[in-house]
Amino acid sequence: MNALSLLKQDHGNVDHLFSRFEALRSDANDDEKARVRDLVVEQLSVHAQIEEQLFYPAVRERLDDDFDVLEGLEEHHIVKWTLSELEGMPPSAERFDAKMTVLIESVRHHVGEEEEDLFPKVRAAFTVEELNDLGEAMEALKSAAPTRPHPRSPDTPPFNTLLALPLTVADRAVRIGLSLVGRAVKMTPLGH
Ligand SMILES: [Fe+2]
Ligand SMILES: [Fe+2]
Repeated sequence: MNALSLLKQDHGNVDHLFSRFEALRSDANDDEKARVRDLVVEQLSVHAQIEEQLFYPAVRERLDDDFDVLEGLEEHHIVKWTLSELEGMPPSAERFDAKMTVLIESVRHHVGEEEEDLFPKVRAAFTVEELNDLGEAMEALKSAAPTRPHPRSPDTPPFNTLLALPLTVADRAVRIGLSLVGRAVKMTPLGH
């Protein structure tokens, strides 16, 4: 799939989850809020990885001005911190809805800049074949990308597929309660 189509599809999927949360906001349906939060954490963590490891580096190399990408990395950084706080917060917490709302505002702002400012420049600078190749690589990395936020880990290569893989395995293990694996990874320099 074309890299820009893939990223836009991800943006649309996450925005759908945001709308689901907004519909729930005034409810006390904590189980459903937690389900939506978990999906948001997973989808944004994977999306950030494929952009940081493949899309942004390719764009930086090609465009003369890399400010858009550097700003994007800083926005990712803030989003990942917020995700890491949300991850451990019960939906009944006083600040949960407010934190989710700020996350949604931050992500919508960031997605707006990508789609309106950055993507047109990328479309002009790459051939369709190049964008298709990049999209295929990003699709392949998706299955190996961490499913949880790691705001302390490097956000530029070489935090590459090889290093991402053990984190991914650990993330899935943590989800199903295998905390030993999670602790082992936390001891590595890249783990968080
Ligand atoms: Fe992004
Ligand atoms: Fe994005």
